Amino acid sequence: MGGSRTGDLLSLVKASAPGKIILFGEHAAVYSRPALAVPVTQIHVDVEVLDSSRKGIWIQAPDIDLHAELGSLPADHPVGSVVLKVFSTLGISSAPALEISIASTIPVAAGLGSGAAVSVALIRALALHLSNPLTDERVNRLAFEIEKIHHGTPSGIDNTVITYNKPVYFIKGQPIETFKVGKPFTIVIGDTGIPAPTKESVGAVRHLRMRDQYTIEDIFNEIAQIALIGRRSIESGKPELLGELMDQNHEYLQTLTVSSPELDILVETARKAGALGAKLSGGGRGGNMIALVRQSNAEAVAGALISAGAKQTIITEVS
Ligand code: MEV
Repeated sequence: MGGSRTGDLLSLVKASAPGKIILFGEHAAVYSRPALAVPVTQIHVDVEVLDSSRKGIWIQAPDIDLHAELGSLPADHPVGSVVLKVFSTLGISSAPALEISIASTIPVAAGLGSGAAVSVALIRALALHLSNPLTDERVNRLAFEIEKIHHGTPSGIDNTVITYNKPVYFIKGQPIETFKVGKPFTIVIGDTGIPAPTKESVGAVRHLRMRDQYTIEDIFNEIAQIALIGRRSIESGKPELLGELMDQNHEYLQTLTVSSPELDILVETARKAGALGAKLSGGGRGGNMIALVRQSNAEAVAGALISAGAKQTIITEVS
């Protein structure tokens, strides 16, 4: 993952960014509690930027059915806004003619970071093409600004784990902390297939907190403890302890009303099929769940999830 330039004559630049899952701490992260997230490299966004012979900035993103010239898109368009942001950051007033192509294997609105991954890969590729490669810190900052346009009050966890492509222990507004995985472990990701924009579930938690601030803050504090213990378990090579933590975290997310019947069914199915623990991951109310499994049991859990209605599963090793 990252960016590269091939052949100066053609001036083709490519960059990629991975998907992500949140192991612990979604939603509480928005209120400055710690959260743990890891990249998922089996799914990714790949961006190519090429000099063009036709005038304008042409964007092709077949996965979201986008084939358009930049000028025809609204200023807050999820892809167009990234291009405009890069131009304004680099002080480019008249951009060269470009063809931008975006391909993604990350399901959209599924809690796997597809929006942040498009931003990160596109920022990197465009900046590199314009001979202004950006540091990870700047890429992350720009991607966060884009997240704020589209997700209301994001914590910044998605753009951070995706930019750095490493496990992160994230606290909003604090310096980035990556952490080491003491012993690799296996996660099965199950997709409900139900699109669930993060903005909506984050808004629902905000309303809940407005009605009963003390109870919700207590829940955030419990989740923060889970994230902290989770980090210690991972670093000290005891990932098997994460199962129970996942179960507890899922219960708190249910209380925050961000689970859904479909997510609960998949979580329960994974446990019955032998997973050590399971929870929803990301914004919730649809999207994906994750289950901690023994490697030898991963296929069986993935199969059980499909039988229970999952549209797709991914087996990933966190290392
Ligand atoms: C989304 O992946 C995670 C949430 O906590 C929102 C955020 O932190 O920005 C639900």
